[in-house]
Amino acid sequence: MTTLIETIRAARVWDSRGRPTVEAEVRLSGGATGRAIAPAGASRGSREAVDLRDGGERLGGMGVTRALKAVDEVIAPLLAGRDAADQAGCDAAMRAADGTATLSHLGGNAVVAVSLALSHAVAAARGMPLWAHLADVTGREALVPLPEIQIFGGGAHAGRRIDIQDLMVMVPGADSLDEALEVTAEIYRAGGAIMEAKGRLHGVADEGGWWPDFASNEEALETLCEAIHKAGEVPGGRVVLSLDIAASEFGKDGRYRLALDDHEMAGAEFATLLSRWCRDYHIAAIEDPLAEDDRTGTIAFTRAEGDRLQIIGDDYLVTDAALIKAAVRDGACNAALIKVNQNGTLSGALEAEQAAHAAGWGRIVSARSGESEDVSIVHIATGLGTGQLKVGSIARSERGAKWNECLRIARDGVAYAGGRALGNTWWGKA
Ligand code: PGA
Ligand code: ZN
Repeated sequence: MTTLIETIRAARVWDSRGRPTVEAEVRLSGGATGRAIAPAGASRGSREAVDLRDGGERLGGMGVTRALKAVDEVIAPLLAGRDAADQAGCDAAMRAADGTATLSHLGGNAVVAVSLALSHAVAAARGMPLWAHLADVTGREALVPLPEIQIFGGGAHAGRRIDIQDLMVMVPGADSLDEALEVTAEIYRAGGAIMEAKGRLHGVADEGGWWPDFASNEEALETLCEAIHKAGEVPGGRVVLSLDIAASEFGKDGRYRLALDDHEMAGAEFATLLSRWCRDYHIAAIEDPLAEDDRTGTIAFTRAEGDRLQIIGDDYLVTDAALIKAAVRDGACNAALIKVNQNGTLSGALEAEQAAHAAGWGRIVSARSGESEDVSIVHIATGLGTGQLKVGSIARSERGAKWNECLRIARDGVAYAGGRALGNTWWGKA
């Protein structure tokens, strides 16, 4: 098995929002190849790796000509002849060649596509699925993750019609992935039917969740509970709610303004409102409850709710090992969202995941709002046995591609994580 890098090529492909993105293909001297496509966020943390875009008029400035050039003219010659199995070494070389903290020179989109393609190529050379290769190199027990699935979309993914970004469900009480997905599909169907009957449904948001007119943020929570009932389940029974507040989108300088409710609050009042929602609506996990710069608020909220609630840092932690370690010391959050392109490299994301794992935190591998058929994150979640995966809704093929890959891996005999990753939350106690 030779895993020396022979060629790396980039190509322009298209994402789920109809925007261009970067696909990288790595060919190894033994003949194995690996491919990966960069995803793209819309509600981004200020400290995450940035994509290199062309700017200007064409394609709304989202062109990737410069990012493709960075792969073909800088990264390809830089890595040619190196051992792709030395993922950390290859990633470090790209980082050094870029020279910026946010990969703004070569582009986070260029670097992440190559970084992931390297791991696919090595797995192919070893004749293994990527999840098995990752389980092997990290020494983790592979587990098919518990899905966290969006039913209603909001925030930056739905024209800001509601302030909460993701209204999701998890089915920790299901015995298998297959059953969890069926229950979720029934809830999705019921949620759409309820709003359609009211004449207030307008298609789907960026991640495939319904995009209705709600009169208030709380009406969305009530409707989600109603959909769970309509699907024959009970909130807090086999099914729990989870939210991505994405509070950095509307929280500034310690003030939080829910535009739909025309209600502006100080951080403490907003945190109290969130606590009440979590209790009233059987919410087991909440992501970015406070803004990314609200350290005091995040620490206080974790102190108040952390023993019953999974409190997930996304924009707050940006898949960065140092930020996760600092948050562990602070007692801010008890779980980390893991987005490879937020970090920029696979090894950087694995380091961040390891920092969260070492602290006994939950780890939720996550897609972005701009996605493709690429299923790398399914293999990362499974191979590392993180126990949880978030990819948006159950509708739209760029989302379904992930759940369907999870199903295939489960059929190959990998154990299913089920609800155990949620540990000591309100669900665990019910
Ligand atoms: P994104 O956000 O639009 O930046 O991918 C998704 C999320 O906040 O989890
Ligand atoms: Zn988020």
